[in-house]
Amino acid sequence: MSTTPSHFDLLIRGGTVIDGTKAPRFDADVGITDGRIAAIGDLSGCTATQTLDATGRIVAPGFIDSHTHDDQAVLSQAQMPFKVSQGVTTVIAGNCGISAAPLRAGMDLPMPLSLLESPAEGRFTTFAAYLDALRATPSSVNVAAMVGHSTLRAVTMADLDRPANEAEIAAMQALVEEAMQAGAIGLSTGTFYPPAVKATTEEIIEVGRPLTARKALYVTHMRDEGDRVMEALEETFHIGRALDIPVVVSHHKVQNVQNHGRTKVTLPFIKEAMQHQCISLDCYPYTAGSTMIRTDRGMMDCRVLIASSVPHPECAGRDLKDIAAEWGVSGEEAAIRLQPGSAIYFMMDEDDVQRILAFDETMIGSDGIPLGEKPHPRLWGTFPRVLGHYARDVGLFPLETAVWKMTGLTARNFGLEGRGTLKPGHHADLVIFDAATVRDTASYETPTRPAEGIDAVIVNGAVTWRHGAHSGARNGQVITRKPQA
Ligand code: ZN
Ligand code: CU
Repeated sequence: MSTTPSHFDLLIRGGTVIDGTKAPRFDADVGITDGRIAAIGDLSGCTATQTLDATGRIVAPGFIDSHTHDDQAVLSQAQMPFKVSQGVTTVIAGNCGISAAPLRAGMDLPMPLSLLESPAEGRFTTFAAYLDALRATPSSVNVAAMVGHSTLRAVTMADLDRPANEAEIAAMQALVEEAMQAGAIGLSTGTFYPPAVKATTEEIIEVGRPLTARKALYVTHMRDEGDRVMEALEETFHIGRALDIPVVVSHHKVQNVQNHGRTKVTLPFIKEAMQHQCISLDCYPYTAGSTMIRTDRGMMDCRVLIASSVPHPECAGRDLKDIAAEWGVSGEEAAIRLQPGSAIYFMMDEDDVQRILAFDETMIGSDGIPLGEKPHPRLWGTFPRVLGHYARDVGLFPLETAVWKMTGLTARNFGLEGRGTLKPGHHADLVIFDAATVRDTASYETPTRPAEGIDAVIVNGAVTWRHGAHSGARNGQVITRKPQA
């Protein structure tokens, strides 16, 4: 038996550990040395360079945001206050078919690729260049990134309004291979969005061929989350089987009034398919979605709140219907005038959201868009909202389950080794919070207010958030996929 060290860099004393495995909580101290967890247990006889008192608090693995669009933010807003303040220590970037690389300098970015706020100069022409930049100027959080299929289409195809031809598929395949070699953890698609609507199932399978040898992930904002959600799920699972890789259904939802309640069908369908192949899914805890400003019916039938608009920044935070009335035009015409930009769509049913959150295998992902002054509140509120509102106040599941859905489960599904659970030897990503008071305060009206009840956030051993303020630490690492043995 190895002896417990007696001195640590950092010692968290007197807390109650929820270790991210769904196991019941237990009282223990946590000792950290060299960015790793060195010991968990009664460490009362030990000394430390720095000590944090966690009496009456929960000590948990740092949260992993399974679905983000933080690809550029981790460089341009490197302290990531909107994530760190919630207890997030790792973000999965490159979702919905959109990634920061590979791009060409000066190329036009169609919506929704421009949601990443990619600077026209200093773009990353290779995935390796993107990850190198992150290593050179680290963020406050760890980053694991996927390469986006819409980005590949935009950089490869002159006309996005058709399926890719053989030469274009070969070119995209080579770019996926480059991204995999650089350390991307998977390929994402967003066939819901104009740049990829015309991509066929076969195109995606062929572009994704390099994933198979590495068992890398296929992660998708599906073609349809409304009337044709079942066909979209079937297509997703088919692609996973064809490539023999794990799939992730991003931000599962059923949208538009006529589909409310259909999670009673989608979730059992997903559960059944899970018996035969590797499938996971994530969800954000709100009944409104947020994406680029769109003009299709169905999206326009619900309440639409403008989050950002390039031509009309003054309209952020206002209802589309009020803007249209003021301008004396139709909602559709107002939406066209506001493009490009992003909006919040109140298109889901609370019962569906709760059913998906409570589904055993659902991970928590914010899908936050770090853009403008009036973003969807999920950017700042997702994780405390699940812990406070949904676990504690609504009672959807025990706190241990809530933590697991944002740590251990996510690390397992995305293959993030040495993270997501508290164990000696694991990277020291931790959050200390108050189970009685943790809550989100970001609302649709005031969306950028930090959570309450998050005491401290530690990233690779560095105290990054404490007493409601950022320490300035930028100790995040780039997480790459372990090459297959
Ligand atoms: Zn999406
Ligand atoms: Cu997304």
